Formats: sequence, structure tokens, C-alpha cells
Amino acid sequence: MANVTVIGAQWGDEGKGKLVDWLSNRADVVVRFQGGHNAGHTLVVGNQTYKLSLLPSGVVQGKLSIIGNGVVVDPWHLVEEIAKLGGQGVNITPDLLVLADNACLILPLHRDLDQAREAAATNKIGTTGRGIGPAYEDKVGRRAIRVADLADRDALEAKIDRLLAHHAPLRRGLGLPEADPARLLADVEAIAPRILPYAQPAWRLLDEVVKSGKRVLFEGAQGALLDVDHGTYPFVTSSNTVAGQAAAGSGLGPKGPGYVLGIVKAYTTRVGEGPFPAELFDEDGRRLGERGHEFGTVTGRARRCGWFDAALVRQSVALNGIEGVALTKLDVLDGFSTLKICTGYRLGEREVDHLPAGLKEQAALTPVFEELEGWSESTQGARSWRDLPAAAVKYVRRVEELIGAPVVLLSTSPERDDTIMMRDPFQD
Ligand code: GDP
Ligand code: IMO
Ligand code: MG
Repeated sequence: MANVTVIGAQWGDEGKGKLVDWLSNRADVVVRFQGGHNAGHTLVVGNQTYKLSLLPSGVVQGKLSIIGNGVVVDPWHLVEEIAKLGGQGVNITPDLLVLADNACLILPLHRDLDQAREAAATNKIGTTGRGIGPAYEDKVGRRAIRVADLADRDALEAKIDRLLAHHAPLRRGLGLPEADPARLLADVEAIAPRILPYAQPAWRLLDEVVKSGKRVLFEGAQGALLDVDHGTYPFVTSSNTVAGQAAAGSGLGPKGPGYVLGIVKAYTTRVGEGPFPAELFDEDGRRLGERGHEFGTVTGRARRCGWFDAALVRQSVALNGIEGVALTKLDVLDGFSTLKICTGYRLGEREVDHLPAGLKEQAALTPVFEELEGWSESTQGARSWRDLPAAAVKYVRRVEELIGAPVVLLSTSPERDDTIMMRDPFQD
């Protein structure tokens, strides 16, 4: 099956959107399978910049785009994003966009809870404040409102009552005003006709698509180290972000995700709180942030920056079954005379080659670095492997060696076509 799954191999913002957009002209369908509008995927095409949070990045190239059941969907945000893209000349109709009818909704009360909890917490997670965690809680708690429920007014009223009965004590505890069921029902009823035209059993459509020999591209959001099981818990998002989720979050069988392409930034960033062993607090860190324009797409927060952490990505390669890597933002490293790569950690007297599960141990890790020679030439916008300076090639080769996966794509600027392909993931 010639499908490809794109996965963030670090803490998000690796450049997934750019690569999904670039790869989508080789695919027939693009599918989001987890997360929600906490994601911020940036696409640069000529003088247009598209910022997508919920819509699969394939919509910009006019590919059939599916928001799978694993995604939590804020319907008001969805309508807004569709309108915003429309304003940029991307006309999104139900022919182009399909919303899984069994996806769960993010409601205003989820955002309230997310923000109130963060405001009250002494140990903040640094969430995007968009209600992602509380929406997933209600999903696994079996009291969520799903897309299909929007079509059934009578049942909807009872479901809202049940949901509010659960939320009432939580809101009280956080000093939030009581939610008004009539108002929520009215709001949900008002948005329903704008959402329902996109709703379908997405699993069935995907089954047909795959049986007719078409190619599916799965678009991960966040990154493997933000995975609720495998990430730096509790400083994670509330979904499984690893490649395995592409199957469950779309309704395709376990072979559906196909080739797993890890998107890897040539250095490391993280937005929000949590352990980050290779983090830099010096001039080099500031320079990476400045050259890489490391500000969050969703919240505008400055991203924390550090050297490339090979131990972290090696772990990610294993967790996701990554077969090849798209290395992004290599150009940001231009002009550093010396570069460092974190190859593992020290924990007291011990050497550790992975992130231990315990938070206390994670916080106590000190990175072990090896130094590499930098390059003074510009790699920005390079479109051929031959255009790269020898030291840059050496850096890429060392990355491959340390993470145990080949670099099959290289990105050298935000622009769609500034991408070098060594091997076509759809052909592998
Ligand atoms: P995503 O969340 O993984 O899709 O990544 P984001 O879009 O949040 O962040 C990546 C940022 O880097 C965006 O602003 C991209 O336009 C930009 N970008 C992507 N690839 C490259 C690259 O190779 N070089 C540079 N300089 N910027 C890139
Ligand atoms: P993309 O798809 C980077 C982080 C938040 C916070 C934690 C939990 O653009 O790579 P949440 O709102 O999900 O409950 O926040 O996860 N986070 C991201 N960091 N990129 C993202 O998405 C992220 N989505 C969530 O900053 O630390
Ligand atoms: Mg992002």
C-alpha cells in the first residue's frame, strides 16, 4: 500500500505542514488523525502564507482532505478556518473536505476548563488553551458530543445535560460561572448546519479510496515527545501523536499508515513547559530562535531552542517505526562556526541513551555533546544536494548515523519548492 504517514519526531513544529503540502501533489487524499486546533502548520507558497490548525494541509493543493475520528473538532474554529482559507483563494466545499461523523467536538466549556486550570496551576503545562485536554477527557469518559449528534436535536439536549452535570462541579471548583444549557444548545444548533454538510463515515470513504488504489497521506500533528503515552508526561498533549495512531484515528487498518516519514528539525525546539535536556540559554540559543523565527503559530509564544538531540530522535524513530526522515531548517544552522549534537545523557555517574520515563530523572539529565564543524556558506533555498557545503553534508550524515534512519528529504527554506528529495517516500 503506497501510503505515507508524516510524523513530528520531536516536540512539534518540525515543519510537518510544509512537507505535507509538498508531498500532497503525490497523494490523492490527506488525512488528519489526532489533535485539534492546537496544531499550527505553516505553508509558504510564493508570496502566500497559509496557517492551518485543523484543516489537513492537502486542501491548499486541492486534495481531498479528511478530518478523522481521532481529531477533536471545535466547530466554530473549523468554520472560521474555512472562511480564512476562502479569503486566500482556497475554496473549501464538501467535495474537498470530509469530517468524520464520529469525531468528538470541542465546546466552549472545554476551552474554559483548559484556561482556568492553567491559570490556577502552580505546575503549568503551558497548553495552547484551546480545550484539547478537556475534550479528550470527555471523549474517553464517554460523555462527549460527537459530530453525528448535531443531526439529532432530541438526543442532543439530553447529552448536553449529561455533559454539564459532569462539568458543573469542575467549574464551581475553579470559580467559573455555571454553564447555561439552553445557551449551549442554541449555539450548537446554530453551528450544526454549517458543519453537517462535511460529515460522513470517513472510515468508509477511506476504505473505498484505498481499495481503488489511491494514495493516502496522513498528517500528524504535534510530535512524538508530546505523545500522551510516550512523551514527557505530564508535559504532553492529550492524544497519541505517534504513527500508530494514524490507523485508529482514521478508521483504516494497521497497515494503512504505510511508510512512516519522520519530520525532524535540524536543531530542537519546544513550546510550553517540560523537560528539554539540550536546551540552550545562551547566545547560540537566541540565535537559533531568531534565525529560525521560532515563535508559535497558534499562541505566538517564543519557542525554547537547543542543539539537535540525537538521543531524542533515535527514541522517536523507534516509537514511530520511522523509515525515513525529512530534515528541515538546515539553513538555520548556516554561519555557526561550531555545531553541537547531543548524543546521549548523563544521569549522575550513569550514561543514558534515552529519555527515562520518570520526570525527576528527565529533569536531572545532563546532555553529552559532540562538536561538529559548521559552515559559512548559505544553504537557504538550496534545491540540490550538490549545492550543499561539505560540512553541511557531513552534519546530515552524522545525524543519520546517530538516529538510525536515512534522510530522504531535506528542506532548506519555508518555501514549498525549496525541498530536496533523495528518495520518494511513496515509492518505498
Ligand atoms: P509544523 O507544526 O510541524 O507544521 O511546523 P510549523 O509550521 O509550526 O513551524 C515550522 C516553521 O518553519 C514554519 O514557519 C515554516 O514556514 C518554517 N520552515 C519549514 N521548513 C523550513 C526550512 O527548511 N527552513 C526554514 N528556515 N524554515 C522552515
Ligand atoms: P504542531 O502540530 C508544538 C504543546 C503545547 C503544550 C502541550 C499541551 O504545530 O507541531 P495542548 O494545548 O495540546 O493541551 O498543549 O503541547 N503543543 C504543541 N507544541 N507544536 C504543536 O503542534 C503543539 N500542540 C500542542 O505547547 O506544551
Ligand atoms: Mg506548528
